Amino acid sequence: MSDRFSLLILPGDGIGPEVMAEVRKVIDWFGDRRGLHIDVDEDLVGGCAYDAHGTPLTDATMAKAQAADAVLLGAVGGPAYDNLDFSVKPERGLLRLRKEMDLYANLRPAQCFDALADFSSLKREVVAGLDILIVRELTSGVYFGEPRGIHPDDNNPDNEGGRVGINTQRYTSGEIRRVARAAFELARKRKNRVCSMEKANVMESGILWREEVQWVHDNEYPDVELSHMYADNGAMQLVRRPSQFDVIVTDNLFGDILSDAAAMLTGSLGMLPSASLGAPMENGRPKALYEPVHGSAPDITGQGKANPIACILSFAMALRYSFDRGEDANLLERAVEQVLADGVRTADLMGAEGGTPVSTAEMGDRIVQALGALA
Ligand code: NAD
Ligand code: IPM
Ligand code: MN
Repeated sequence: MSDRFSLLILPGDGIGPEVMAEVRKVIDWFGDRRGLHIDVDEDLVGGCAYDAHGTPLTDATMAKAQAADAVLLGAVGGPAYDNLDFSVKPERGLLRLRKEMDLYANLRPAQCFDALADFSSLKREVVAGLDILIVRELTSGVYFGEPRGIHPDDNNPDNEGGRVGINTQRYTSGEIRRVARAAFELARKRKNRVCSMEKANVMESGILWREEVQWVHDNEYPDVELSHMYADNGAMQLVRRPSQFDVIVTDNLFGDILSDAAAMLTGSLGMLPSASLGAPMENGRPKALYEPVHGSAPDITGQGKANPIACILSFAMALRYSFDRGEDANLLERAVEQVLADGVRTADLMGAEGGTPVSTAEMGDRIVQALGALA
């Protein structure tokens, strides 16, 4: 297998380019010190692509993403683009990447680093040692279901305002089975437990979801422990006793919401990485896009306040899932842990217990230094 890899970097908008600059330092370090050959290409996505080309993702960039071994994205969106037509909003660029690359399994791990346990909005004993993995379905459901749109509500004279907004929650059994398989596979490498979340009490698509996940379990993964939970209860249980979970598998919209909640268990949205994986390519590795869970954070853009760790840990996931470098992924995660243990803190991580306040760039430098010390 080749040990040269191609990586398409899409920094995007807001703090995206700021956190990505720190990832570049980490990539350079792995190139210089660990012989990891990554051919990096960089391009536009989101609002910046709209400014340059009138579209949040050009066909040329889409083609590059399809051809790369992996894509690493910063964040898209921002207030300057809020009033654009829906079809060209920055977020559509990201959704197109996910859909056309068919990245159906979005892995969102939430791990609580010990040094941050006191900083979580929950009590230390609730979050210490926390290690859960949310597997969010990413290419279907209400995000993509038809019919959709905003229409005149012609036949309804009683409707004040006269319009109707429509989105459709739609799942096929095949879409549910493939993401369930991804969750069971991952659980086998962890604590072997999967909890599936839906709203089977009010949604037919939720009934199908439950039945198909159960089917995959009974026929293919009977060794994995499976439970089902209504997603609203799941949200409550996530903040009540998160350690009861190992792998959570859920649909696109519930996964979006539950993973933001899980992010706060770890201390900050600025900590949470993600990997979006599709079917294996010819080389056996999955199609993949890596991105922090957070957005473009317009409230702190350009101030050197952004925490680059979520993006750096997203690169660690790329090392693990796309570049066959599990040990290097572990090394990078340990470097982040070390820096946090040393009390180094971007603004979002500054709590009552203090620490050394650092900028985005200083955090990147400290992580590179820690890599050097650990290697
Ligand atoms: P957001 O994640 O951008 O910000 C939420 C809060 O978390 C803000 O207070 C922000 O300052 C803080 N925050 C986020 N990331 C941080 C980091 N790395 N370090 C420190 N603090 C951080 O969510 P939002 O404000 O709801 O959305 C802003 C824009 O981002 C919108 O246009 C939205 O659509 C977009 N968005 C994009 C993505 C993505 O590109 N994957 C994800 C979510 C939101
Ligand atoms: C996320 C974001 C995206 C989503 C937006 C920006 C399209 O919130 O990645 O969690 O809703 O999936
Ligand atoms: Mn989200």
